[in-house]
Amino acid sequence: MANEFHTLLDATIQHLEGLKARGARHVAVTPATLQALRKPLAKTQAPAAGPAPAAPVKAPGRVQAGTPAARTLPSSSLPLSSKTPLQGAEKEKAMRALAARVTGCTKCPRLPESRTQTVFGVGTVHARLMFVGEAPGADEDAQGEPFVGRAGQLLTKIIETMGLQRGEVYIGNILKCRPDTPGQSSGNRKPTPVEMATCLGYLEEQIGIIQPQVMVALGATAVQGLLGQQVAGRTMGSLRGDWLEWRGIPLMVTYHPAYLLRNQSLTEKRKVWEDMLKVMAKLELPISAKQRGFFLKK
Ligand code: URA
Repeated sequence: MANEFHTLLDATIQHLEGLKARGARHVAVTPATLQALRKPLAKTQAPAAGPAPAAPVKAPGRVQAGTPAARTLPSSSLPLSSKTPLQGAEKEKAMRALAARVTGCTKCPRLPESRTQTVFGVGTVHARLMFVGEAPGADEDAQGEPFVGRAGQLLTKIIETMGLQRGEVYIGNILKCRPDTPGQSSGNRKPTPVEMATCLGYLEEQIGIIQPQVMVALGATAVQGLLGQQVAGRTMGSLRGDWLEWRGIPLMVTYHPAYLLRNQSLTEKRKVWEDMLKVMAKLELPISAKQRGFFLKK
């Protein structure tokens, strides 16, 4: 067994060195493989522990397979804590330079022509908390700022109810362009897996510059974009409310505010609010009795 292992290890090293010699600087690795590689060997070989997966529950949005799954992972796929964080003005400078690159981006075949402008992100580079959404809609495309439409106004209200200001957090999206809707005068469409994989590097850079203490993924597309195959097939109902991790940063998954606009029930509002209470606790923000009780049935 040990011999077989070393033979395979030698063959893998030889293969990787061959690729490197031919100029390759990246290899395609799925998030699941990456996760397994981070674990000590004994754990990797042990049968998966923990409770049996819960039966899928009825909830908005199932995370789809076939996302940025086996895309090429840059070296930034290491835990962020392994990188030296930028300080003060360096962060602002790096974010400005990145924003300039995004403004001129032409990586996708149609979006550069269909967009009014790119929608980069909003908030402070010094944020402890970062929200990640899906993609700009019509309002965001027109104004050049994420989450300014009806869903955005609700997000702002949620942030303020947490005792924060919109300018104290950072808000970004998986996609920096509004997905085009050819032949339609209104409406939105979900980003395709290829669009997500193409654009994701920008979000990863934004997160790397900010290095927030906590992130919140708003809806299925956001969590799918961030965690890919790791969450494929999982329902939003089974994902929300528990802490996940994105490269060492605690990640809370919750429903997209647009879902709350469609479903005004107190129960669903309370679920999102409970997720935000967990975020507040993680950030050691003060929580009043009034805040604890929001959206509870009297
Ligand atoms: N929905 C999103 O996911 N992002 C936005 O910026 C606006 C609406």
